[in-house]
Amino acid sequence: MANIAVLTSGGDSPGMNAAVMSVARAANLMGMNLIGIKRGFNGLIGKSGNLEEDIIHLSLDQVLDIADLPGTFLRTARCLEFKDPAVQEKAAAFLRSLDVKGLVVIGGDGSFLGAQALAKKGIPTIGIPGTIDNDLGYTELSLGFDTAVNVCMEAVRAIRATGRSHDRAAVVEVMGRNCGDIALNTALSTGSEILIVPEMKNWSVDDIANRLAALVERGNKRATIIIAEGAYKQMAPFDVYNFMKDYTGGSRPVFPGSPMDAYFLSRIVEHKVMKTEVRANIIGYTQRGNQPSARDAAFAFEAGVVAVNLLKHGDTNRVVGVHNGKVFHMDIESALAIKPSFNRRMFNMVNAL
Ligand code: ADP
Ligand code: F6P
Repeated sequence: MANIAVLTSGGDSPGMNAAVMSVARAANLMGMNLIGIKRGFNGLIGKSGNLEEDIIHLSLDQVLDIADLPGTFLRTARCLEFKDPAVQEKAAAFLRSLDVKGLVVIGGDGSFLGAQALAKKGIPTIGIPGTIDNDLGYTELSLGFDTAVNVCMEAVRAIRATGRSHDRAAVVEVMGRNCGDIALNTALSTGSEILIVPEMKNWSVDDIANRLAALVERGNKRATIIIAEGAYKQMAPFDVYNFMKDYTGGSRPVFPGSPMDAYFLSRIVEHKVMKTEVRANIIGYTQRGNQPSARDAAFAFEAGVVAVNLLKHGDTNRVVGVHNGKVFHMDIESALAIKPSFNRRMFNMVNAL
């Protein structure tokens, strides 16, 4: 029986376990043994010093019930030394020593660069997109994105209910690294009124305050400001320290050079607008550590089967994705060359209404 291997890498994302389950079942059907590599690329380079910490022979029984398990059963890690070709060669040699005939890498664009490197070193490798950020241009969906948006939607609904009760506005920070997709889809699904994303260059705190002031004038004192975590670094320079030092009343220390964050933004916007209170909320890891939505779990199921089929047919250096709602695959180079396209039309609509 041929051996194949699977690993999860980068930030964990809902649906990774469902994909591993699917890979295991497809491998089993095709008469292959499955080896789980633990902690991303770390498990390929002997970083733990203990083989049992690095690999696990996965029986079907061990993975049949993990599809709805949050997090990643195989663990994940960021392995910065994997950019080094000598380290990649060590990993390829390790896989050869295990007689591995193919590898499935579940992760984002960084993980796909690692997958590509292994493919170039002769290890047949297939990628499955797993990142809540949805920052892979070649695919409409990556595992975890739909779940993360649903988590944010639920959270914002609750935040808006409290805002409504008190006639008070809110800042809500969501994840996404340099991609505004989680923020955009959260805003759209909750009717939030103000959206700030990393794709928006040189935005200013005054733009936000003016927009909120205009909404208050039109009778809406309870607007929700959705900000993507990566947007702060696109903000026009603003001296948080000097603005906040008198205003906080000591409720929270502020230091020279303090970067903008959700708390400061809420205080500053509240102070500039005056006519409504603004509270800060950060959704955080609940976006990542959740059970996969139906959409993510279903994509994971299909992606796992497609990946194993590709390996069985001798394919390598390819990634699975979704285009026009259909699962497809393409080569890694071309996939990574496609930059994510942000939906500006919907972004403008949120901020215009
Ligand atoms: P994601 O896969 O979600 O984009 P990261 O960017 O953190 O997450 O990348 C995950 C891992 O992929 C890194 O820790 C590293 O092991 C590997 N990786 C990232 N960039 C490269 C690269 N240029 N070459 C080889 N491996 C890489
Ligand atoms: O890539 C997924 C992600 O959750 C991003 O949204 C976020 O910027 C980053 O990972 C945070 O990573 P960590 O908290 O694991 O360092």
